[in-house]
Amino acid sequence: MNNIHNSLNNDVNSPVLTPLMTGISSPDPLKFAFTVKSAPHAGRGGSHPLNLTPQQWQTWWTSPTSATQRALYIHLPFCRKRCSFCNFFENGSNPARISHYVDELSKQLYIASKTPFVQSGTFDTVYVGGGTPTDMQASEIAIIGEAIQAFPLAKDAEITLEGRINGFTHAKFDAALSSGFNRFSFGVQSFNTQVRLAAGRFDDRENLIERLQELSEHPSATIVADLIFGLPGQTMEIWQQDLQDVIQSGVHGVDLYQLIGLQGTRLSHQAEKKATNKQKQQTLAPAVDSQTRARMYAAGASLLESSNWQRLSSCHWRRDKRERSIYNSLAKSGIEILPFGAGAGGNIHGHGIMNARDLSHWHQAQSQATEAGTQRFPSQVPGMIMSPNPSAALDSQFKAGLDSGVLALANFDTELVSHLMPLFSAWQTHGLVKISGKIMTQTLAGRFWNVNLQTGLFAYLKQNPFESCAS
Ligand SMILES: C[S@@+](CC[C@H](N)C(=O)[O-])C[C@H]1O[C@@H](n2cnc3c(N)ncnc32)[C@H](O)[C@@H]1O
Ligand code: SF4
Repeated sequence: MNNIHNSLNNDVNSPVLTPLMTGISSPDPLKFAFTVKSAPHAGRGGSHPLNLTPQQWQTWWTSPTSATQRALYIHLPFCRKRCSFCNFFENGSNPARISHYVDELSKQLYIASKTPFVQSGTFDTVYVGGGTPTDMQASEIAIIGEAIQAFPLAKDAEITLEGRINGFTHAKFDAALSSGFNRFSFGVQSFNTQVRLAAGRFDDRENLIERLQELSEHPSATIVADLIFGLPGQTMEIWQQDLQDVIQSGVHGVDLYQLIGLQGTRLSHQAEKKATNKQKQQTLAPAVDSQTRARMYAAGASLLESSNWQRLSSCHWRRDKRERSIYNSLAKSGIEILPFGAGAGGNIHGHGIMNARDLSHWHQAQSQATEAGTQRFPSQVPGMIMSPNPSAALDSQFKAGLDSGVLALANFDTELVSHLMPLFSAWQTHGLVKISGKIMTQTLAGRFWNVNLQTGLFAYLKQNPFESCAS
């Protein structure tokens, strides 16, 4: 291990470096630089919760934006079934419940769309996510799509509908296209029928491929699929087939996500039981270890890139220029995102916002606003509003760069780059990056571990504060 100190040390010539920041030296960094992906996303503090008065909330909606790029995020918190790996499940897809929610949500969107704040700048991208927005009826998809059109959208704005293939009928696809959606992101996870059944998914492999092929033949709609590697029962052989299948399905873009052990999922409950009940342990499919996941990532990157797919980020590739992935790349760059719906997150005027997930409280806020008379501003719903983060712009620059696989060091203050150089050099020694002049390019291992690198960088800055980034 080179030059690594484990104790706190404020001497600038001898910064604190820990293996959690730098990874460790190993002959195979893809498999061994870190032991486990640190978290789904990286971030550091720097802001605190605020109590926004109704007056301040109204001022937000009457003040012009200072953002140059903006997005709209609309959350549909409904699923028909809880998948074993996912903790995004919030409410069952009851038709009456969805219909009531869509009514309220579209009212809020129309009210917001008329405010001076919304009208003061265009929106580059819109994401209707969940949950499972494709569980809406065709008419409800059209209601949301038309409400989005009331916003000042950039020419050629990307408008995504997220969901799943099961239940996504021709009528829903037509309604979505005619109301302005132009990108569709489907969670496939794995094509293998057994793996899918075990994870709580509905369709079999053949149906999935056939429907994805059909949708991808549309002349202008962009079709994207999410795959997960590391699911229980998903061997390397099955994963290789998943990759072949996604290529064969004709989709224009694909995300390859490593399975993250999220709390509150069926898989995490199984793992807890496994620790306490040895007998049941034998009945569970074996978890895929971190080294195998690293090999799965490498297999995915290699097959897609040798098939001429272009890498847009560490986990996203496109077959076709039609796929732009604007929302995902801009969201990582910290742009303004207006959140709508229970459980939606975003940021307005530099304040992070997370709407609470509870559906009845969300509806209550809408009814109170309606009772109060003519509504000129969207209702302030329960949730968390944060103070502006002084290092937000810098952090987003690091996150977006490390997620893309290339950090252009020339874009940062030279003193800050010198301050970070002990960390970057350790990454280079450990086979995670290559530094050439003012460009730091991640290796395949560095891309696989990119969230650990982001977490490591923020930990480094916390333990070795740099004057102008210290909060
Ligand atoms: C919010 S989900 C919505 C997807 C959609 N409802 C569906 O059923 O396919 C978006 C994506 O998050 C990813 N995801 C969910 N849980 C995950 C986990 N534990 N690890 C990695 N990716 C996960 C899945 O690939 C999923 O497609
Ligand atoms: S993967 Fe999709 S359908 Fe399954 S629980 Fe998560 S959000 Fe719901």
